[in-house]
Amino acid sequence: MAIQLQQVSYTYADRSLWKQTALHDINLNILKGSMVGIAGATGSGKSTLLQLFNGILKPSEGTVSVLDVTIRAGEKSPKLLPLRRRVGLVFQFPEQQMFEETVEKDLMFGPLNFGMSPEEAKLRARQAMTDMGLDLSLLERNPFRLSGGQMRKAAIASVLAMDPDIVVLDEPTATLDPVSRAELISLLERLCREQGRTIYHRNPPDGRAAALCRSLGAAEGRADCLSGGRAGACCRS
Ligand SMILES: Nc1ncnc2c1ncn2[C@@H]1O[C@H](COP(=O)(O)OP(=O)(O)OP(=O)(O)O)[C@@H](O)[C@H]1O
Ligand SMILES: [Mg+2]
Repeated sequence: MAIQLQQVSYTYADRSLWKQTALHDINLNILKGSMVGIAGATGSGKSTLLQLFNGILKPSEGTVSVLDVTIRAGEKSPKLLPLRRRVGLVFQFPEQQMFEETVEKDLMFGPLNFGMSPEEAKLRARQAMTDMGLDLSLLERNPFRLSGGQMRKAAIASVLAMDPDIVVLDEPTATLDPVSRAELISLLERLCREQGRTIYHRNPPDGRAAALCRSLGAAEGRADCLSGGRAGACCRS
């Protein structure tokens, strides 16, 4: 199992008057090498759920198990650095994850941070750019001088450069044109089918992505399995 949530709830500002329970009693099993999409109304808890997968958020109640790491509410978390390399999270707003002065430095940051040599990190950065269909000339560019779509692709590339086992993407196709959107969905499908990676993404509720993956629905902080979709097409379960 790649990701397992048992009776997980999450409350923001738990000890304040403004506390806000975003997730209620979620039970979820995601198999290794599967592609799962989540759809749901705004504010239903999709981004909150995603951030539990690499330990950015800790459950207020229940247990989150990701690969070989278990995080239990009320207990001290285990070391999360190795998990952060193995679970790549692409944020809803790409500017939240670009912070270096060039795209290349941003793409090399993760690999260098996790102990790769500068040469290998450079190669990873170039490969991830190519995978995302981005011109290598953009490597020298300041990330904040890219277009919205280019920045989103660069943010995804910065996660792919770390070679994660699980790729978690929050609204990956927002701001992308229809061609880039289709290319990204094909790439995710390839990562899943050919490389056995687990892909978890917030996909548009219609379109090809929805047809390809097992879909979960989120409503008011409750995630339920809505349909099997065409799971067999891309899920190795
Ligand atoms: N930092 C925060 N502090 C307090 N409450 C928050 C915080 N972030 C989110 N929430 C609340 O938690 C609930 C779930 O928010 P979340 O961002 O997970 O929704 P979402 O499904 O990703 O929405 P969207 O589709 O708009 O991105 C909402 O009621 C939101 O107001
Ligand atoms: Mg969100």
